[in-house]
Formats: sequence, structure tokens, C-alpha cells
Amino acid sequence: MGRLDGKVAIITGAAQGLGEALVKRFVEEGAKVVGVDLNEEKLNETVDKYGNDNLALKLDVTDEEGWQKVVDTTVEKFGKIDILVNNAGMMSKKGVLELKPEEYMKTIQVNSLGPLLGIQKSIPKMKENGSGSIVNIASIGSLKSGAADGGDAAYSASKGSVRSLTKHVAHYFAKDNIRCSSVFPGGIMTDMLKKVFNENPELWETTKVSSPLPDHIADPEDIANGAVYLASDDAKAVTGAELVIDNGNMTH
Ligand SMILES: NC(=O)c1ccc[n+]([C@@H]2O[C@H](COP(=O)([O-])OP(=O)(O)OC[C@H]3O[C@@H](n4cnc5c(N)ncnc54)[C@H](O)[C@@H]3O)[C@@H](O)[C@H]2O)c1
Repeated sequence: MGRLDGKVAIITGAAQGLGEALVKRFVEEGAKVVGVDLNEEKLNETVDKYGNDNLALKLDVTDEEGWQKVVDTTVEKFGKIDILVNNAGMMSKKGVLELKPEEYMKTIQVNSLGPLLGIQKSIPKMKENGSGSIVNIASIGSLKSGAADGGDAAYSASKGSVRSLTKHVAHYFAKDNIRCSSVFPGGIMTDMLKKVFNENPELWETTKVSSPLPDHIADPEDIANGAVYLASDDAKAVTGAELVIDNGNMTH
């Protein structure tokens, strides 16, 4: 029996990276998945790869009307929404002194407004259903700086707002049996990061010191497993939680 049997989950940023691992693990645990992403071609490929009874919908998470369509289509096809995973994210790769206002706002829109819109549109359906679980993917870059946020000021601020929004939603919707928690990944071993480590072996040496728990960096599935737990009924008494999955980076 899967830990998400009978559940319907919307997952943003589902085309690649952590999003792909989320789709894979949620389907393995029995959920029906609605994957959304800007990158339609890659999204279709990923969602198809893990089963044929799921749905892939193109969405820019900053588009309010687009969100309404995703929520309505999900309810039309599957009858309800149990889970929302706000995973889509971006980096501006700029420090405070280089960052242009429009670059700051773009990162805030995708990383912070995106989750808010998903939450706003999903909660009424979760209320109708009598329960719901929202999992927001933040980052240890919202808990500390330096290598943790890649020197990216807008990223750090946007993920900090995800942390606070999570607490707010957890508090105000607990009475409706809607839970909301966040996951704080450290480094995730994506293809992109593998390339960075191959090209900069000294960065790998630093990572080994900063994240002491072997293998020093998490697999995408390690993060997805945390999201499965928070989304599932195993976490029925858990809300407002902050689950750090970082190979020990936050221990120093
Ligand atoms: N990779 C890491 O080391 C790491 C560490 C901590 C936190 N995170 C967080 O995990 C999440 C996933 O990261 P990843 O490494 O898989 O990133 P990624 O860049 O590989 O994937 C992000 C996905 O989000 C999609 N996306 C971007 N903007 C969008 C928008 N406006 N609307 C819809 N989709 C959009 C992209 O098309 C892409 O498919 C992000 O929120 C990221 O901040 C990643």
C-alpha cells in the first residue's frame, strides 16, 4: 500500500530536477499527479515517464488566471485536490550591489508570489474536501547565507518569505484541517551540480567540509521523500514544520 494512495497532488516545477523526483516518488506512493511547469515539452516527457493516468499542464506560476485553470482542470479530472507542492523556483545569481530592481522582483514573483497563488487557488478546493496538505520547497539559503544561498540576495529573500508564508498558512488554516510545512534542501545532486563539481574539484572539497554527512549532498529523491512524508497522513499531526535535508550543513 502506498503512503499517498487515493491522493491527488499538484506539483509545480515538475519538468526536471527535484520536480522530476517529486513526480516519481508521489506516483510510486500511489498519488495521482498533476505536474505543472513553464517548459511544456520537458514536462510532458517527465509526467509520461511515470505513468499514463497523470496530467501535465503548462503554467507560469506567476499567472493568477493560469493557476485557476490548473485547479479547475485538476478537480474536473480527479474530483479533488489533496496536496500542493510548491517546488518551481529560480535564481537571480546576483549579490545586493549588482541586483537590478526588476531582477529582484522577478525572483520574488516566481519563488514567493508563485506559491502564494497556488495556495490561494487550492485552499477553497481543500476546504470543500475537508482536508489538505501544502508542502513548500524553501532552501537553507533562507536560513543562512554564503555558499547556502550562492551569494544570491533575491533568492535568499524570496525563500525567506516562503518560510514565513508557510507559518502563516499553517496557523490560519489548521482549523480547516489544512496543513502547510516547508522543506529546506541544502545542495541537491542534479546533473547541473555534477557538472559544476567536475569542473571545480576544489568546490567539492569545500562541500565535504560544509556538509559532513556522507554523501555530502542529497539526491533529489532524499528531498522528495521528505515531501512525501509531509504530504501523507503519516504527518497528520504536523503543520508549520521546517524540515531541513542538508547532509548536516546547518549543524555549523
Ligand atoms: N538544486 C538545489 O541544490 C536546491 C537547493 C535548495 C533548494 N532548491 C529548490 O528546489 C526547487 C527545485 O530546484 P531544482 O534544482 O530542481 O531546479 P531546476 O532549475 O532544475 O528546476 C526548476 C523547474 O521550475 C520550472 N520553473 C521555473 N520558473 C517557473 C515558472 N515561472 N513557472 C513554472 N515553472 C517554472 C523550470 O522550468 C524547471 O523545470 C527550487 O524551488 C529550488 O529553489 C534547490
